[in-house]
Amino acid sequence: MKPSLLPYLACISCKGQFHLHEGETQSRDNAEGREIISGLLTCKSCLNRYPITNGIPRLVDSRLSTSTDMNTGDRFGDAWKEFSRMDERYEQQFFDWLFPVDPHFLNDKVVLEAGVGKGRHAQIVADSGAKMVFGIDIGHAIDVAYENVGHMPKLHLIQSDIRRLPFNNIFDFAFSVGVLHHMDDPKAGFTSVVDCLKPDGSICIWVYGKENNWWITNMVSPVREAFTTKLPAKVLKLISTTLSVPVYTVSKAVAGPYAKVQNKNKWLPEMFYQAYLSYISNFDFTEVNHIVFDHLIAPVAYYIPRGDVLEWFQDAGFPNPVIRWHNKNSWTGFASHRQHEVETMNARLEVAKNSDSKAFVER
Ligand SMILES: C[S@@+](CC[C@H](N)C(=O)[O-])C[C@H]1O[C@@H](n2cnc3c(N)ncnc32)[C@H](O)[C@@H]1O
Repeated sequence: MKPSLLPYLACISCKGQFHLHEGETQSRDNAEGREIISGLLTCKSCLNRYPITNGIPRLVDSRLSTSTDMNTGDRFGDAWKEFSRMDERYEQQFFDWLFPVDPHFLNDKVVLEAGVGKGRHAQIVADSGAKMVFGIDIGHAIDVAYENVGHMPKLHLIQSDIRRLPFNNIFDFAFSVGVLHHMDDPKAGFTSVVDCLKPDGSICIWVYGKENNWWITNMVSPVREAFTTKLPAKVLKLISTTLSVPVYTVSKAVAGPYAKVQNKNKWLPEMFYQAYLSYISNFDFTEVNHIVFDHLIAPVAYYIPRGDVLEWFQDAGFPNPVIRWHNKNSWTGFASHRQHEVETMNARLEVAKNSDSKAFVER
């Protein structure tokens, strides 16, 4: 933990300020001067205490989080340990997920990533000119993130639950990619993130969509819930590696080339799940394996209709969010209290639609 994190933290029970007791520290040749490896954070108001271990403040209390969310954190912690590598292709994928948000939008903003995983997106945001980035995760994925990006100067990592965020209203921008649909109560998770925004802050989320995913909800989810989510990570990795062979082959050898032909010959029918399979045809085998593994390990996965995503935003005080169908199987939602930001995003979406970019079709 960097010493400069302290004033930004708030108690997860009462939002009070913390007193920091430093244990082990290591000197650092940067503006911070040292890294706090172990210690204790004591709330000045309610006196609750939370440890700092292995360089990370552990602001999770199992009495305040649901057992389902805690279990999800455990499972994804295992997943990120198996797939901890960083890859330069993540940048393109990240901005595809967040589109119409672009790197320029992040400039000089104080940003929250809700569900940071192995830290791949927090790193990109920190490198894109954000003022500060705070990444939180409920499980031991946070240790993988710390290993990967904990050294970055503007980046802070905290173990915490999205439903119990250790912040007041300090963020210019918050985002969450592939997380809310894995929570016990996705809408409550969304609301909790919104509650940490500054009054003129903005938010972008990406979640699984219900539309076009009937085959997953009817055929894959029952197997995941009854069987694969309960398997040890190593065993599941063997299974996912095997299943990834046909997925990788079809995406690379069929979906990718066919989509190019179909794009120029609109009279040809779209093949099954074409938008998504052709999108992942650019990935290597390890990444496809990770996608398959990720789908099979999750204890909970909601596939959310567009109407529900819209309702989350509207109930949180954003009447006109920008909602985009991504790869015809998921939803990206953006909203801001600054009208000109919403107008900019809508304009970008319009340009993308007119350029006939398949990934950015609006439903
Ligand atoms: C599919 S991963 C996505 C990680 C990251 N956003 C990415 O795309 O690389 C979902 C992550 O959300 C975390 N997560 C799930 N429920 C959470 C919660 N209630 N609070 C904080 N993190 C949570 C998991 O531990 C996991 O690391």
